[in-house]
Amino acid sequence: MQLVIVSDITRRKLDYINVTLILKMCGIFGYKGKKGALNTILTGLKRLEYRGYDSWGVSSLKKGKISVAKKVGAIGDIKVLEREDNAVIGIGHTRWATHGGVTKVNAHPHYASDKSFVLAQNGIVENYQNLKRRLAARGYKFISETDTEIIVRLIEDELKRSKGLQKAIIWAFKKLQGRNTIILLTKAGRIFAVRNGSPLVVGVGKDEIFIASDTLSFADKTDDVIFVDNLEMVVLDDEGVNIFRVSDGKRRKYKLQKLDHRDVSIDKAGFPHYMLKEIVEQKHTVREAVQYSIEELKGLMKSIKSAKNVYTVGSGTASFAAGQIAYFLRKYASIPAVELKAYEVDSYKQLFQKNDLIIAVSQSGETADTIEAIDAAKAREAKVASIVNMVGSSIPRMSDYPFFTRSGPEICVVSTKAFTSQVAWGLLLAFSVAGKHKFVKRSIEEFSKKLEKYFNEDLFKNIRKLAKELLRKEHIFVLGREQNYYMSLEGALKLKETAYKHAEGFASGELKHGVIALIEKRTPVFVIVSEDDVKDDLLSAAAEVKARGAWVIGISSKNNELFDNFIPTVDAGIADPIAKVITFQLLAYYLAVELGNTPDKPRNLAKSVTVK
Ligand code: AGP
Ligand code: GLU
Repeated sequence: MQLVIVSDITRRKLDYINVTLILKMCGIFGYKGKKGALNTILTGLKRLEYRGYDSWGVSSLKKGKISVAKKVGAIGDIKVLEREDNAVIGIGHTRWATHGGVTKVNAHPHYASDKSFVLAQNGIVENYQNLKRRLAARGYKFISETDTEIIVRLIEDELKRSKGLQKAIIWAFKKLQGRNTIILLTKAGRIFAVRNGSPLVVGVGKDEIFIASDTLSFADKTDDVIFVDNLEMVVLDDEGVNIFRVSDGKRRKYKLQKLDHRDVSIDKAGFPHYMLKEIVEQKHTVREAVQYSIEELKGLMKSIKSAKNVYTVGSGTASFAAGQIAYFLRKYASIPAVELKAYEVDSYKQLFQKNDLIIAVSQSGETADTIEAIDAAKAREAKVASIVNMVGSSIPRMSDYPFFTRSGPEICVVSTKAFTSQVAWGLLLAFSVAGKHKFVKRSIEEFSKKLEKYFNEDLFKNIRKLAKELLRKEHIFVLGREQNYYMSLEGALKLKETAYKHAEGFASGELKHGVIALIEKRTPVFVIVSEDDVKDDLLSAAAEVKARGAWVIGISSKNNELFDNFIPTVDAGIADPIAKVITFQLLAYYLAVELGNTPDKPRNLAKSVTVK
């Protein structure tokens, strides 16, 4: 079979012949419907691309033969010529390599030896070495270096004993350890998918069915979805969709659910990058995050007040939002909330109790580390609340009190608008608990209006100029305190992620306890200064580092003689931390652009880390 793939821009022949196109992101997309399967899958994969990226592949069935096309790199604007695209069923995968290098051979889907099916995986087979050893001893040969190919050979082996492919897949799946979701396309024109940990949803359209890692990938096609739970198998064939339990192989009934995708547009709206678009969108998104009425918050507020312990959890950027939310609860509502790092759950899980409340923070709603912390809390009967951006993802479905930031799709791998929305929601929660629901809404509304004016060409020029001056600096420090402590950590993380600079955020109080030893002549030190009780402490810290030759850059609504450079921010009252972190987002963006990095897809990072 000959597949011609053309680029929208060059319409040049790129790859073909019995191939597989492969994307590099960890995402799965399957389709059964009308003709044009390959282009539908490619569009779906493109929409999943934000999840990660290093290689990708697609597979379709035509005249009883399965073809596979794989490719290393980003999916780009690739299309299959219409006349070539008459398959009605197929699957695709974007890979974020965990086992085996980023090569065409390692990209998914992987063929069965007799080409009767192909398989792709999202996740990790943790016991792959044991399984591989056993299979090799039985004479199985391996073509790739991936853990995924082990699943293919395991199914082949089970087929020798089981009655039929469906049973063999279930038996093989039961032998896997780790969080993995698999999808198979068979020669007989069926798609099987089994979920454990990594996400899986089914979309039901008119005469067509989608199966994917998230609902966003088919949100332009249908709002009717079926959520697949862990240890469930989906079968798509001429009968439609059937769902079976892995435990006993029995069919389970399901209901279609309607999704509310407020904004599914994923174009750049004229901006050069998603990152800049999403930074500017914050003038509206902060407002969306605080739309909840007191009625809608009631259950959670009651739970916060009666909980023995309140913990907030998240990973990476979301962990800083979790820290900020805990801070707001302590500061404004006198609730002794504490932030815990999701990925450290093994060190504290034994402390969870029945009357505890865990507030999980996540953009994607799929982060494996965060899910593990929630699992641990649920196992000890603690209650779970969450603030998530992705509708239909796993974390809200695991939560007693699910809330959404409603920021619209965040495509840039580096989180910006989702983070500030999480922080805004934290303000809403803390002030609502303190009986000041109207006040917090009004404050965020005013802040949002101020932001409208704040984003302008002069600001962008000013920050870009500073970015140029910082280009050759390898070490950057960011000082914050109290309401700006977590902003110093997040600000530094933005600089790490897009500019690949060593940036470190810390509380100004930490300075004299060690960090000051790092200050040399012209070391850039950002000082985040709000009009609050700790303003003078920050200015003293600025004076101390300046006395040792540091280059002091003030992030503040007011200039000060201690600042060598000054980036003005909105004076935002209770929302001031959000105003401050936006400066770092813009700086990180312009540093990436000036360095020739790709701000939307920084090296080595994936948007949604669904593996441990
Ligand atoms: C964000 O810029 C990072 N790429 C990363 O820290 C991210 O915040 C983290 O992986 C958590 O993701 P989540 O919000 O989807 O749970
Ligand atoms: N562990 C698999 C691999 O490295 C899949 C990774 C993914 O989820 O993309 O091939």
